[in-house]
Amino acid sequence: MKIAVSFLKSKLEKADTIKKIEETDCDYIHVDIMDGKFVDNITLSIDEALELLKNTTKKLDIHLMVNDPLEYIEAFSHLNVAYLTVHIELGNKVDELIGRIHELGIRAGLAINPETSIDDLNPYLDRIDYIIVMGVTPGAGGQPLIPETIDKIKELKHLRDGNCYHYSLCLDGGVNLETRNTLDDADVLVCGTFICMSDDYQSRLDEIR
Ligand code: DX5
Ligand code: ZN
Repeated sequence: MKIAVSFLKSKLEKADTIKKIEETDCDYIHVDIMDGKFVDNITLSIDEALELLKNTTKKLDIHLMVNDPLEYIEAFSHLNVAYLTVHIELGNKVDELIGRIHELGIRAGLAINPETSIDDLNPYLDRIDYIIVMGVTPGAGGQPLIPETIDKIKELKHLRDGNCYHYSLCLDGGVNLETRNTLDDADVLVCGTFICMSDDYQSRLDEIR
């Protein structure tokens, strides 16, 4: 099980939070980008994100909650990216976006909101490298996991194994010690508040692992 740490909600400033995450043995830094349109919140502009993340040693798991991902994709392609993920709810833009991410030599992901059916992912399952199943409604850290989203992970794992698809499965939102043992079918867990609202990131990470 890999862990991607989200710095969306933290006791510290973003730069200090990232410094502390870098000192742990986590697998990825999860970067939540919100544009105030796809979701109400705004996190980082392209320039702010580039400045903050240009020297990271950890690979980045970039989660784009934005209406027009193309310029973000181009800009972030120069960072140390593990996965670049856009939302399936963008509809007919998705095909081109996956193509562009792949052209840049980056692994492409699709994120799916709690209320969206996994059937919407069907046309892309043989092409994508990563699926972020949202455990919460996107927009804010520190929300409780919606239990029904766990079944999506199980079904997508079943589909992958039955069809030889190659995507990795990620659960994003609401991961803590109470929910952790229901999430063994995921390959990657995004964990934010549980780690970054604590004083000892590494020990929280060890507990989740
Ligand atoms: C929600 C984000 C998150 C989430 C993770 O919109 O995508 O990555 O905040 O943080 P916690 O662990 O606080 O739910
Ligand atoms: Zn996220």
